[in-house]
Amino acid sequence: MIIFKKVVDIQQYIKNKVDEGAQIGFVPTMGALHEGHISLICKAKQEARVVVTSIFVNPTQFNDKEDFEKYPVSIEQDMAMLIDADCDVLFIPSVSEMYPNGTDNMPAYDFGYLETVLEGTQRPGHFKGVGQVVARLLDIVNPHYLYMGQKDYQQCMVVGNLLKQLNSSIRMVICPTERDDDGLAMSSRNRRLTEPQRAIAGLLYQCLVSIQAKKDDGSFDIVKKECEDLLKAKGFNTEYISLADAETLELLNEYNNNRKMVALIAAKIGVIRLIDNLLLN
Ligand code: PAJ
Repeated sequence: MIIFKKVVDIQQYIKNKVDEGAQIGFVPTMGALHEGHISLICKAKQEARVVVTSIFVNPTQFNDKEDFEKYPVSIEQDMAMLIDADCDVLFIPSVSEMYPNGTDNMPAYDFGYLETVLEGTQRPGHFKGVGQVVARLLDIVNPHYLYMGQKDYQQCMVVGNLLKQLNSSIRMVICPTERDDDGLAMSSRNRRLTEPQRAIAGLLYQCLVSIQAKKDDGSFDIVKKECEDLLKAKGFNTEYISLADAETLELLNEYNNNRKMVALIAAKIGVIRLIDNLLLN
């Protein structure tokens, strides 16, 4: 695996590879890698791409200072996992390499409705930061394919919207959510859970599964209330349990099996904020 820290160097490398006929697959990450991240790299490898992974903890997408400061960092372990997964290139830029002139004069993308619901409401400015960093990374790497995880459902929609705004021909491949045995969606933030917190974290997925199980003959309102009560009793601080149209993210009050639906959940255990989602049909 080749490691680049400088934009000019990775660009030169990629240009040479593309001139040789390679198809570039890109996996942007913030590091603290787990099997969820690795599944994106494996998918890109299966599709015979030259795989570029980036690790950059983007300060502009954190609305919570403590979340940024405590974001797990494990670069040595990350590199070992990437080598194991046969990743071709690792890009680890510094903040000044990514944003040489700061971020004030960079284009700010407007994601409209997508910024006003769910994660958009809970994390003001988050998707602006994601748009900014992904646009910058795509400009540097200029891949043919971009691999993203369904775990961050709304982020996938935002990035899809960004690609449209950029008039880009980059194709986004959305990969399924990797889970631990109890259903907990893998996440870098899971590392910060204490043992008792980790023991109950799988309940989030169980809530999503029960929402899915009731879709044909249940009431979303009732199952939502049951989930809220259960999570509260176990000490979670639930931010939202929502049902939405899977294509537009329009929020739905009730099940509507004529539409493709997604259930989305966000809750805190102590100071750790977790999100998850499940496509219902
Ligand atoms: P990060 O949280 O590191 O995630 C990087 C990629 O891995 C994202 O596409 C995410 O959806 C995917 N991913 C995370 N957990 C997963 C899981 N359990 N199963 C499958 N895929 C999973 O998302 C970001 O970083 C950042 O916002 C980024 C896009 C890199 C911009 O800074």
